[in-house]
Amino acid sequence: MNKVVYASRGGNTKKVAGAVAKGASAKAVSVEEANLTEPVDILFVGGSIYAGKIDGKLRDFLSGLKKDQVKRVAVFGTAAGKKSALPEVKEILNPKGISVIGDAFQCKGKFLMVNSGHPNADDLKQAEAFAKRVSGTHSHE
Ligand SMILES: Cc1cc2nc3c(=O)[nH]c(=O)nc-3n(C[C@H](O)[C@H](O)[C@H](O)COP(=O)(O)O)c2cc1C
Repeated sequence: MNKVVYASRGGNTKKVAGAVAKGASAKAVSVEEANLTEPVDILFVGGSIYAGKIDGKLRDFLSGLKKDQVKRVAVFGTAAGKKSALPEVKEILNPKGISVIGDAFQCKGKFLMVNSGHPNADDLKQAEAFAKRVSGTHSHE
């Protein structure tokens, strides 16, 4: 089973989470509602960048994850600039022995006057393709 957990303050990452969920045949839930009751094959983690960092609730969720709950983690997100949540997610999960897939998805997210219209239809199409691609790979590959 795959699962999508995202943190989204303004709705941009939530939109992308919907597309990722479609591509991964999974359910998307916000980090506030996330509750991993059964083992997850690929946990897709979505997060944006706020003042250079991922959302605190997402950080707490990741800090509480245990190795036996997830096989692998894949990261996606949006930001005004180019910064992705990937390095911070790796920093939290790698010491626990949870493998974070190098293939991550990142697109622009609207913020004040910049990136108007993003994530757009093409961003969402690419997010879905990313989720399909990642779901089709196996840990031994
Ligand atoms: C308080 C705040 C701080 C932000 N800081 C950054 C930042 O440091 N770097 C960046 O690239 N984008 C920054 N952004 C832009 C968001 O990352 C971008 O709008 C993102 O798409 C928001 O996703 P969300 O709608 O899912 O919350 C910031 C946005 C907010 C609201």
